[in-house]
Amino acid sequence: MNHNTQVGIIGAGPAGLTLALLLQKAGISSIILENKSREYVESRVRAGLLEHNTVSLFDSLRVSERLHKEGLIHLGCFISHNGKSQRIDFAKLTQKEVTIYGQQEVVKDLISACYERNIGIIFEADATQITDLETEKPIIYFTKNNENHSLECDFVGGCDGFHGLSRKTLPKESYQEYKIEYPFSWLGILAYAKPNYEELIYAYHSEGFALASMRSEKVCRLYLQVNNDDKIENLSDEQIWDELENRLGFALNRGEIFEKGITPMRSFMIDNMQFGRLFLAGDSAHIVPPTGAKGLNLAVADINNLANGIIHFYQNNDEELLKNYTQKCLARVWRVQDFSNFMTYLCHKQSEEGTFENQLQKSKFDYLTISEAYQKTIAENYVGLPYETFA
Ligand code: APR
Ligand code: PHB
Repeated sequence: MNHNTQVGIIGAGPAGLTLALLLQKAGISSIILENKSREYVESRVRAGLLEHNTVSLFDSLRVSERLHKEGLIHLGCFISHNGKSQRIDFAKLTQKEVTIYGQQEVVKDLISACYERNIGIIFEADATQITDLETEKPIIYFTKNNENHSLECDFVGGCDGFHGLSRKTLPKESYQEYKIEYPFSWLGILAYAKPNYEELIYAYHSEGFALASMRSEKVCRLYLQVNNDDKIENLSDEQIWDELENRLGFALNRGEIFEKGITPMRSFMIDNMQFGRLFLAGDSAHIVPPTGAKGLNLAVADINNLANGIIHFYQNNDEELLKNYTQKCLARVWRVQDFSNFMTYLCHKQSEEGTFENQLQKSKFDYLTISEAYQKTIAENYVGLPYETFA
């Protein structure tokens, strides 16, 4: 069956959903193809920290009502090193804050808004090929219920994540890849336990990193640095709680762990995010280690640029902004890659206590405790540099 729309979007994650809503607000039609079910997409556990940029953009889309009702506003966080803590005061240093609100809650809100505004999302529709990219009518071929379909459009939003089709569709010679596979992973848990800490704590410890985060007053989100070959079944719930307390340096409220998993840590990106009428955004073009809490926020920042470019085209019949899409996104992508990499190396155990590398790592933390300039560097990157920074 043949379909058509102005913008074909592959992926109903934060990138694809936000793009569809920004386009709809400007009167531009789109259809989202998502190869998983709605239930699956809405239940995927991911990170949960929103920059003020992201919240402001969701405010402009009128999709932030529940976010403001249920999200937790944080005015700072703690970075600790072997038990010595330094608070990073976002409010004082940047006059901004961040909001703790689970990504799956964001996705639920965005999908609801798409349905309310009659934006077409076809779930369990697997995009298999994108053709005619260098024409004015690219085509996305997809399957659904074992039937073959095509979606003809003016532009393709490649919002299909790291494992998606879009990056694989770019000619190999059109981009260079950059990547770091870190020698450690994160074991993350969600538990029905009241967080007994007010703000996030990023803790370096001689046994490894730990992060104390949360989802609400009743649900805590905690992470442990583990080895890449560690298996979730090798650690009992009690061992996880014990190690978290050992590294964080205080007793935690414990409760039923209802979700746990191990995620590898990687930095990845390509230096070209477009080809013809195909534009990549979000995880399809880059992955950051979660230490900087940037994944969703960077995806939304890409989409802000892409939506502006597509809207400008339809309003002025001018592709100038779209021609500069990659350059505009990469300025922020490199900044966010550097910040995420910095936070990862600052907080994770990579060498034995007393080695030169380990002493340099400790010196960074000692400097953080005496320098407001260093604290502000972290604060302004953490809350998110304004979109106009990279105009
Ligand atoms: N056809 C249709 N849908 C696809 C295909 C395909 N061939 N391949 C992937 N998808 C879907 C995935 O099922 C997923 O729902 O694309 C979506 C991509 O969403 P995300 O992976 O969430 O990527 P993005 O929207 O860029 O958001 C980035 O999500 O993964 C987290 O940590 C990441 O926080 C970051 C954010
Ligand atoms: C989370 O709450 O899942 C979270 C918060 C901050 C991070 C990473 C993950 O840096």
